[in-house]
Amino acid sequence: MTPTDDEKMTLCGIVLHPAGHTRSPAMHTAAYSALGLNARYEVFDVPPQELAAAIAQARARGVRQLAVSLPHKETVIPHLDRIDDTARAIGAVNTVTRRDGALEGSNTDWLGAVRALERETPLAGRHAVVLGAGGSARAVVYGLHRRGATVTVLNRSISRAETLARDLGARRAGPLAALADVPHDVLVNTTSVGLRSDASPIPADVIRPESVVMDAVYDPEITRLLRDAQLRGARTIPGKWMLVYQAAAQLELWSDREAPVAVMAEAFDDVGTRA
Ligand SMILES: NC(=O)c1ccc[n+]([C@@H]2O[C@H](COP(=O)([O-])OP(=O)(O)OC[C@H]3O[C@@H](n4cnc5c(N)ncnc54)[C@H](OP(=O)(O)O)[C@@H]3O)[C@@H](O)[C@H]2O)c1
Repeated sequence: MTPTDDEKMTLCGIVLHPAGHTRSPAMHTAAYSALGLNARYEVFDVPPQELAAAIAQARARGVRQLAVSLPHKETVIPHLDRIDDTARAIGAVNTVTRRDGALEGSNTDWLGAVRALERETPLAGRHAVVLGAGGSARAVVYGLHRRGATVTVLNRSISRAETLARDLGARRAGPLAALADVPHDVLVNTTSVGLRSDASPIPADVIRPESVVMDAVYDPEITRLLRDAQLRGARTIPGKWMLVYQAAAQLELWSDREAPVAVMAEAFDDVGTRA
């Protein structure tokens, strides 16, 4: 018996809660079309208490890859067969890929961040400041350190910044207000300040005109921080690119094809204009 088209179709998706407004289906589906991949991307709205059952169901359905978003990036780990060294170091999984029947957890957020930054600057030998000490900060600090940058972590809760710095090889930690005293060429905001608001985590006058500034926040695409940075003469990178490159890395993990980054970025924009 020959398998039908539907049986041959690769199933991927994203688990998150609440499902809200995710751009992942648009980006991945556009990439499947561009590459001629027979694949489908589904959104699984999974509350925390249903995560174990959802992963079991994904196994039973032979799901090839799941993106893992909030609030499941840490709690998914016990439900997997293994996680790779990068996800273990970061302490979070944003991607689950089926390999030889086993579910493997990995993390592409760090790669999304460094590839986005590398659009504007090499990272080796640079001095970077990361604002924030949550989940995305862990991935960004890991990536910057891995690329050879010296990293300072500044956060509202200083003890959280200190723990992150110790865990992931950042050189210094402190409060957000210390930014003015830390020489740097790269600045990344990973706090949620600016998300769907016109707030910035720092005053505009501490932004260095010679720095490259990236905001992990991608809604709105141009945040208050990025607007302030542009006015100060700094080069800026919207969080859109971090999201696009982490999605591109996910696609490459299962498809063994080079991701069509421009197509995925265009799909991100299309969702934005429809929102
Ligand atoms: N572009 C991408 O691909 C990408 C990927 C992941 C996340 N993100 C975005 O990054 C942001 C953070 O995500 P996350 O998962 O890291 O969140 P998280 O783990 O909840 O961490 C939130 C961070 O924001 C800080 N914060 C929250 N409210 C603050 C305030 N009023 N003033 C100062 N600091 C404040 C927290 O400081 P405390 O420790 O003091 O509470 C913490 O450092 C979100 O907007 C998310 O959408 C983007």
